[in-house]
Amino acid sequence: MHSLETSLASVSLRTPIIGACGTVGSVVEMAGVADLGMYGAMVAKSVSLEPWPGRPAPRMAPVGTGMLNGIGIQNPGVAAWADTVGPQISGLNVPVWGSAVGGSPAEFAAVASGLVSAGVGAIELNLSCPNLEHGSIFALDPVASAAVVAAARSAVSAPLGAKLSPDSENICAVVDAVMTAGADWVVLGNAVRGFGIDIATRRPLITGGIGGYSGSPIKPIALRSVFEAAQAFPEVPIVGCGGVSTAEDVIEFMLAGASAVAVGTAHFARPRIAATLVKGIARYLKKHRLESVSELIGGVQLWP
Ligand SMILES: Cc1cc2nc3c(=O)[nH]c(=O)nc-3n(C[C@H](O)[C@H](O)[C@H](O)COP(=O)(O)O)c2cc1C
Repeated sequence: MHSLETSLASVSLRTPIIGACGTVGSVVEMAGVADLGMYGAMVAKSVSLEPWPGRPAPRMAPVGTGMLNGIGIQNPGVAAWADTVGPQISGLNVPVWGSAVGGSPAEFAAVASGLVSAGVGAIELNLSCPNLEHGSIFALDPVASAAVVAAARSAVSAPLGAKLSPDSENICAVVDAVMTAGADWVVLGNAVRGFGIDIATRRPLITGGIGGYSGSPIKPIALRSVFEAAQAFPEVPIVGCGGVSTAEDVIEFMLAGASAVAVGTAHFARPRIAATLVKGIARYLKKHRLESVSELIGGVQLWP
């Protein structure tokens, strides 16, 4: 029997597959659709302190084999989220993590605190949303990112992941800053900033104009971030995220240095994809006579 167990700092995951934030709803909706037992954890849609209405439609568009989105983090605010979603998460067959977003370190800390009180098992700090209305991406700046992590760290004792951006000029500087500030792991990364135009109407494809480009075309970009960070900081736990749609993708991310892998856009076409990924990983372990998926982590063999 091959073990699919892995871990991120003190958190054990029964499989390396994580449901990526914003692509699995509040997780509750997914319970009737997919076998949640295939996931190590699932991250509910990002939540802010006050309700955010999000951007008007159209806010999602297919582009090539990927997707451009500018949802603008529509959410009910942390108090309403805690009242409506909070009571339902403990009954799910999967650890549910919360994702905090905000305009300042204090806001992130208050949201993290509210999510933990509502029962989430860990917090992802969404430092890297590419389509916020007033748009600074914290993750592009190591100092701003560290301030958010430090504020959240002093507000909650729950495990903390810092979700960083593939658009960072120097990903290692940001990883170093957030880990020093108290993050337990990093998520590398998020959607890449992108843009598209409908040439019939000459309007941008989505109302916000610039949005997040995700799906299989961004995989090499996310993998490069994971590889760079893992080479620089082999001890830092990494969640790889960006363009995963096959078991081979998951294995590639783990060989590059990820301890777990988040799957996002692929859910829209294949909501039950996690079961296929888990089966494919198990097949690979058997074929390569590996006892545990964790043996893959950082196993890339560099050219001499
Ligand atoms: C429609 C949509 C909504 C998203 N919403 C969020 C969000 O609220 N918070 C967040 O941290 N990431 C959000 N993401 C980013 C995903 O979690 C993921 O990081 C990104 O899409 C890259 O992975 P993928 O190529 O597997 O989709 C969203 C992505 C999509 C496509």
